[in-house]
Amino acid sequence: MTTHATDRVSTGTDSPVIAVRNLSVEYVTERGVLRAVDDVSFDVRRGGSLGIVGESGCGKTTLIKAILRLLQKNGRIAGGSIEFGSRDLVSLSAEQIRRVRHAEIALVSQSAMNSLNPVYTVGRQIVEGIRAHKSIGVADARRRAIEVFNMVGLEEKRLDAFPHQLSGGMKQRAIIAMALSLEPALIIADEPTTALDVVVQGRILRRIQEIHRQISSSMIFITHDISVVAEVCDTIMVMYGGRVMEIAPTDTFFRAPYHPYSLGLQNAFPDIVDKNTELVSIPGTPPDLMQAQHGCRFQERCPFVTDACRTETPPLVEVAENHTVACLRTAEVAEFRTAAADGATWERVRERLVRAEAENAGGRA
Ligand SMILES: Nc1ncnc2c1ncn2[C@@H]1O[C@H](COP(=O)(O)OP(=O)(O)OP(=O)(O)O)[C@@H](O)[C@H]1O
Ligand SMILES: [Mg+2]
Repeated sequence: MTTHATDRVSTGTDSPVIAVRNLSVEYVTERGVLRAVDDVSFDVRRGGSLGIVGESGCGKTTLIKAILRLLQKNGRIAGGSIEFGSRDLVSLSAEQIRRVRHAEIALVSQSAMNSLNPVYTVGRQIVEGIRAHKSIGVADARRRAIEVFNMVGLEEKRLDAFPHQLSGGMKQRAIIAMALSLEPALIIADEPTTALDVVVQGRILRRIQEIHRQISSSMIFITHDISVVAEVCDTIMVMYGGRVMEIAPTDTFFRAPYHPYSLGLQNAFPDIVDKNTELVSIPGTPPDLMQAQHGCRFQERCPFVTDACRTETPPLVEVAENHTVACLRTAEVAEFRTAAADGATWERVRERLVRAEAENAGGRA
């Protein structure tokens, strides 16, 4: 059974298409071990679309590379499980996971555009991609290629083009067509449009949205642009410093966010919530994950930090149905929302960071 993407309310009877539990991923580097993804758990509903947002370096790409088992050599899954169908992707052999990729979980990424082979036509690449996973003839595979090209709004004749003959937007659409060609249960898009100009970006996003409505595939959509998620996804997951800060239905997230980091993010994109809100970006930078982390990852930049936040890592708690938040102070959210809408609140954070920096410099001198 599948549910329509616009059905925001989970029926509760559907098992999720993918269930990630307590996933941790580490990179071994010369400076030490960096935990890029730390104890992350989430589900994607069948037919649902999950948007993952967070500042650069918060672990979004690492998370999906771990799901697809495409981590670089120095990366490793340090714990947790990735339930997909009846399998745990973490324990599949290289050959088994290779069969899952593309056919069952397809990836559309920024770098995929460059991965098109310049010496073959895009049509040939799609046909071969299909035939690598399905035992069908060239003619049938070509018919499927035409179908998916139509879906993404590319004319059939473009199948016979070489990658260099296509514009950036067309290439990205060809990549999306390729991802759709095997009707994967899950499509993961990692910043699929950031390399494109704004107009083309908008067009492709709308196309992705339309396609998602038409087909039964589920989707994970990764971006650092929260407004994109507002357009494309039914659920939003906010990451920070490798951890999940908040998961909520998208409309709830924009109406009633909880986490102080979410409140800060929304201020940085005022046009989504309220055109009159002041544009305030969150002062400071994400934590250095090479250092051991104690307490909440957002503590340095949080206007509402307490001593407890510095020692206790907040667990994800449920504040409403399908809405979980990793903050020790969820009970005070009403006050926080008011305070976070005031630029002075974030200005005090900036001053605090400047003082801390000066003290550190003094200590080093
Ligand atoms: N191969 C690697 N070796 C060491 N550290 C890495 C490696 N790949 C990523 N990292 C680090 O892991 C952390 C998470 O990186 P990741 O690329 O997953 O972030 P991201 O959220 O996708 O960022 P962006 O929005 O810039 O794409 C960062 O601190 C990054 O520097
Ligand atoms: Mg990334």
